[in-house]
Amino acid sequence: MQEKVDAILEEIKRSTASSSQELEEYRLKFISKKSIIGELFNEMKSIPNDQKKAFGMKLNELKQSAQARFKELIDSVNNHQADTPADHVDLTLPPAGNEPGSIHPLSYMRYKIIEIFERIGFNVADGPEIEDDWHNFTALNFPENHPAREMQDTFFIERDPDILLRTHTSNVQIRLMENQKPPVRSIMPGRVFRNEAISARAHCVFHQVEGLYVDKNVSFIDLKHTLYHFAKEMFGKDTKVRYRPSYFPFTEPSAEIDISCQICGGKGCQLCKYTGWVEIAGSGMVDPNVLANCGIDPQEYTGFAFGMGIERITQLKFRVNDLRLYTENDVRFLKQFRTLH
Ligand code: PHE
Repeated sequence: MQEKVDAILEEIKRSTASSSQELEEYRLKFISKKSIIGELFNEMKSIPNDQKKAFGMKLNELKQSAQARFKELIDSVNNHQADTPADHVDLTLPPAGNEPGSIHPLSYMRYKIIEIFERIGFNVADGPEIEDDWHNFTALNFPENHPAREMQDTFFIERDPDILLRTHTSNVQIRLMENQKPPVRSIMPGRVFRNEAISARAHCVFHQVEGLYVDKNVSFIDLKHTLYHFAKEMFGKDTKVRYRPSYFPFTEPSAEIDISCQICGGKGCQLCKYTGWVEIAGSGMVDPNVLANCGIDPQEYTGFAFGMGIERITQLKFRVNDLRLYTENDVRFLKQFRTLH
């Protein structure tokens, strides 16, 4: 019996395999129930009781050796195949080709928005994403206990004095007015941050474009017509626009701007909650306190400001209804914008 086991062990050691067929042969010979080792297990019945334990242990060792060798052979066959891909590659297939990338829909819409305002005399201004309390809140007339200052909305980097991630692009308004004498006529695209759980309708990082026009005799009519022009240029001349009274700490009076729903054309649908209108921007006349905070005389100058979310404009334009799609970078989503330039 011992000799039989030794002979099988020797055979296992010497066995080789270079294809899956040979692996299968090995498996049938040494591993399967009907293999020679399997047969030996069947012989257990006829072994006298006092030798059963020793014989069982021997057989188990043999079985383990057979399995260990099987693993080695599988690895060697796999490596062998990886080393010689020529056997498995069909050289007559046409090459896969390099697909050109496509512009991200948010970048595309940012360019489009900038283009529309540049044509009517706005330039582009930039500002920091990491901001102090003065430029993000205090100079913008936010009252001491305004909820927007609180932890649930704002990502603070340091406290006392507060350093934070800007919650809107309005910080650039302040920086512009502090550093430039009117007239100021700029738009300010940028990333903003709010401490919100990520879902289809909310994200902690998104994009805004803010606009500011400060000069002598700027009136609400200028605001109305500028955004009226924008809405028609962006969404088409049949788009209806309405101004709804609203509140922002830094503008007085304030208005939200709605356009006729792009999905149902005003008839009422899920997107516009059956009102026929969708909001695209906040706006208002710059509060005199804000002008004064920046060293501009509110008796001499007036101004208007507006702010819109680029994700929102893109949603209305391309019917993207889940904010998460913008950051997941799923090529199946991005590919759909290949024709934009
Ligand atoms: N900053 C405002 C927001 O983030 C938008 C806004 C900008 C409103 C300018 C009025 C004027 O919601």
